[in-house]
Amino acid sequence: MSLFITFEGGEGCGKSTQAKALYQKLQQENLPAVLIHEPGGTTLGEEIRKTLKRKTEIIHPKTELLLFAASRSQLVAEIIQPALKEEKIVICDRFSHSTIAYQGYGRKLDLATVKMVNNLATHGIKPDIVIFLDLSPEEGLARRGKLLDRFELQELSFHRQVRQGYLKMAADEPDRWLVVDATLPKKKISEIIWGKVNHSLVGKGYL
Ligand SMILES: Nc1ncnc2c1ncn2[C@@H]1O[C@H](COP(=O)(O)OP(=O)(O)O)[C@@H](O)[C@H]1O
Ligand SMILES: [Mg+2]
Repeated sequence: MSLFITFEGGEGCGKSTQAKALYQKLQQENLPAVLIHEPGGTTLGEEIRKTLKRKTEIIHPKTELLLFAASRSQLVAEIIQPALKEEKIVICDRFSHSTIAYQGYGRKLDLATVKMVNNLATHGIKPDIVIFLDLSPEEGLARRGKLLDRFELQELSFHRQVRQGYLKMAADEPDRWLVVDATLPKKKISEIIWGKVNHSLVGKGYL
């Protein structure tokens, strides 16, 4: 028994807000949960995160793909796999689908190559539930404010491609993905997410 839930979406769509809210809800229910984020979550990963986000850094798209993969592989080996083995519920703020959306659809790297690197980086682990918070890039970036990182500084067309990539992935795997309108109030979004997670928890015997 284990449950792996990831949060996906563009900049400022509410991933961190909702991942934290879900984590707190699971704690209230006395369920064993772990909350992590990408890139990062390990000592090595946090070093990679700083480099990836630094806005003065000029990174080739293929290098970017591999840096995310390196961070992910370490996170899977060090935190995610052991936690799932202990039957914990793992919540990850961004995971492999971010790479397909950003490096595949956004940076236009070959999708088959991106997926191959992802397979290596995830050690074959796939989320049971992907929660996609769908928001226009205009609104998401407005929420982020003025201190933008290397990704947030990309042009709007890049962010629009990322969103289209997410929508395509969600349409391809409708059972695994939950698409939520991220313009709804935070509390309403949390309720929708809990509906899906609760159903899964019952199915798996946690509740
Ligand atoms: N449903 C919502 N409606 C309006 N503002 C929101 C909503 N969810 C989050 N926010 C706000 O938007 C900003 C970005 O949220 P955050 O959770 O950090 O997004 P992300 O992690 O996806 O970048 C924060 O200031 C947060 O309080
Ligand atoms: Mg965040």
